[in-house]
Amino acid sequence: MKPDKIVDGVYRIFADIETRDLFEGIWPLPDGVNINSYIVKGKDKIAFIDLVKDWEGAAAKFQKQIDSLGISFNDVDYLILNHMEPDHTGHLAEMVKDNDKLEILCTKKAVPLVEAFYGVKENVRAVSSGDSIDLGGKTIVFEETPNIHWPETMMSYLVEDKILFSCDGFGSFGTYKHSFDDELTQEEWDRLIPETRRYYSNIVSTFSPFVLKAIAKLASLDISIIAPSHGIIWRYEPKKIVDLYNQYALNMNEPKKGMVTIVYSTMYGNSAKLIPLMQASLEAEGVKVVTHQVPQEHASYILSSAWDSAGLVFAMPTYEYKMFPPMYHVLDILERSHVNRRKVVRLGSYGWSGGAQKQFDPFIESLKWECVDTIEYQGAPTEEDVEKVRQAAKVLAAAVRP
Ligand code: FEO
Repeated sequence: MKPDKIVDGVYRIFADIETRDLFEGIWPLPDGVNINSYIVKGKDKIAFIDLVKDWEGAAAKFQKQIDSLGISFNDVDYLILNHMEPDHTGHLAEMVKDNDKLEILCTKKAVPLVEAFYGVKENVRAVSSGDSIDLGGKTIVFEETPNIHWPETMMSYLVEDKILFSCDGFGSFGTYKHSFDDELTQEEWDRLIPETRRYYSNIVSTFSPFVLKAIAKLASLDISIIAPSHGIIWRYEPKKIVDLYNQYALNMNEPKKGMVTIVYSTMYGNSAKLIPLMQASLEAEGVKVVTHQVPQEHASYILSSAWDSAGLVFAMPTYEYKMFPPMYHVLDILERSHVNRRKVVRLGSYGWSGGAQKQFDPFIESLKWECVDTIEYQGAPTEEDVEKVRQAAKVLAAAVRP
């Protein structure tokens, strides 16, 4: 693993994390994730932008790359912490301990976190939007971008080279053999775009209004390169990732039309029986459909599809007078991310009594969903239920068709 030279004096050092661990302890990483840090070397001073958690030997990989550049961490003048989450700071205490001249730069909200997480309180300076440092021919300006991903987050902009170091913003899951957007193979693109959506929906979606604010704020910068802390570097078409993030952020309240996500769970097959018909009827109406079974598929993937869908179909049985529990978990995840203002159909079977709907109703209200139809039946669906599904699919398709 070698550092990437972005432009003269600016390098990415990174670790591919290929792990069975879950990101943030919850989100699967079948294709891994990478963690990027950046080194900016001016004529007079050196700055390091973000660090790494020592995850799967990441710290040793970083050290090797720093060594290969002929830099000792003791030579570094500034450590810029765009964001305090431990995936970018976990190795902080070890890295700063022998470097007395190092100044840590972060937002005012991050200062107490540096102490709380790592016990470091010396040489920590708060910076605000518009503050800058001069490394000698390389000027870095800070821009606070709260809640992308935590409240203390900022981005750093290298003026002379027009590079935005965006930390979690504009990031993706996945590991890629190539580092830059103009180098990716088709196979890498085919993984990158879905993994960007899954990353956004899993990690960032809750903060979508802040993403829109940040994109508006950053519009005044002349950006040639976007260098996030997860994923690839966008130097050929940085606008592409900004546009993707803009669309994802809008999806919170104004979901893009054209797609329906079906989520179903079943105990004995009755709640699943009408799903193929629902899917085929929607597709016949020209709507794209993605179908997930719960709990067989992780909520991470369901949230990712739902985030891009204007319509949602849920099918679940009643279980002990309430909703089938794994489906309740999925709905809780959708609620936390504010998958708002969707057109929704619910169906499902019950045995001796209903109960699922009672737990479904609060989600409809809280997420401002418009319920197109509810088809609930005792035991197996009847011919009448089959017809109801055909009709519901028509109404739903009409509501979400572009
Ligand atoms: Fe990649 Fe919010 O940390």
